[in-house]
Amino acid sequence: MLERVESVAEVRTAAARARAAGRIVGLVPTMGALHNGHVRLIERCRTEAGWVAVSIFVNPTQFGPNEDFTRYPRTLDEDLARCRDAGADLIFAPTPATVYPGGPRSTFVEVPGLSDVLEGASRPGHFRGVATVVLKLFEIVRPDLAVFGQKDYQQQLVIRRMVADLHVPVRIVTEPTVREPDGLALSSRNRYLNPDERQAALVLHEALTRARQAILAGEGSANRVRQILRETIESSQLVRLDYAEVADADTLVPLDRLGPESRAVALVAARVGSTRLIDNLPLLKAEG
Ligand code: PAJ
Repeated sequence: MLERVESVAEVRTAAARARAAGRIVGLVPTMGALHNGHVRLIERCRTEAGWVAVSIFVNPTQFGPNEDFTRYPRTLDEDLARCRDAGADLIFAPTPATVYPGGPRSTFVEVPGLSDVLEGASRPGHFRGVATVVLKLFEIVRPDLAVFGQKDYQQQLVIRRMVADLHVPVRIVTEPTVREPDGLALSSRNRYLNPDERQAALVLHEALTRARQAILAGEGSANRVRQILRETIESSQLVRLDYAEVADADTLVPLDRLGPESRAVALVAARVGSTRLIDNLPLLKAEG
């Protein structure tokens, strides 16, 4: 039976009951507007946990002042149905006042280094908001494991680092990116795209697969791979590139040479019309 709660006390009671029944507690944090990528995360969590909580919270502190916080899609009724079908036991859909009892200027978590590059450079304060809300969710639910998507590659690295640095007793699981049949990574923001933009958005995945092919064919220069990423993305009139990087899969430090032992990931961000999309593809040994 799927239970939907809004308060911290209700989550704690439900999680305590599950734990007392000997169940492993799993958490899937989301901002709602659930699609099959989220569903995959819930199903994965279900395979490893005896009790699965899904949080649905559009977290104000991870949005910049000119970003889409107010118009971010909110589809709670449909989300509940998807969670039920995917096997979730509890939906935690709190208000901002519940999550931020001290107001927006209260305690926060900073993960330096990893948070400052790529998405962090383009969206100052974004990962501070993400790390803070995820730690709050971990404290509220106290999960044994939590599942995140590879789609937000840098985000799962930031969370892994936070958990290690703060000794949070949770196991982080990362699930591969779920894509449309034509390669577009599923994203709650895809619904902003008009048909022409939807078509144009395919250059992100195309760029990543071309980069991977070049490396498989022996390309050893990361700069040359960056150039392939840039040129492919910039070939579309409707798309404006933000960044195209080839970096170490664990540290996100930009790479110079790519060898058979390299653990590398290609990461791209671009604006398609007014919608900002990100995608990535692990390369070589980090593939998966
Ligand atoms: P949201 O964008 O709703 O994503 C929730 C989770 O779903 C994240 O772990 C994300 O990586 C994963 N996800 C999104 N698209 C995916 C896809 N196509 N395939 C697989 N997984 C996918 O990420 C957030 O929310 C927030 O930052 C959050 C962690 C909830 C903190 O507010």
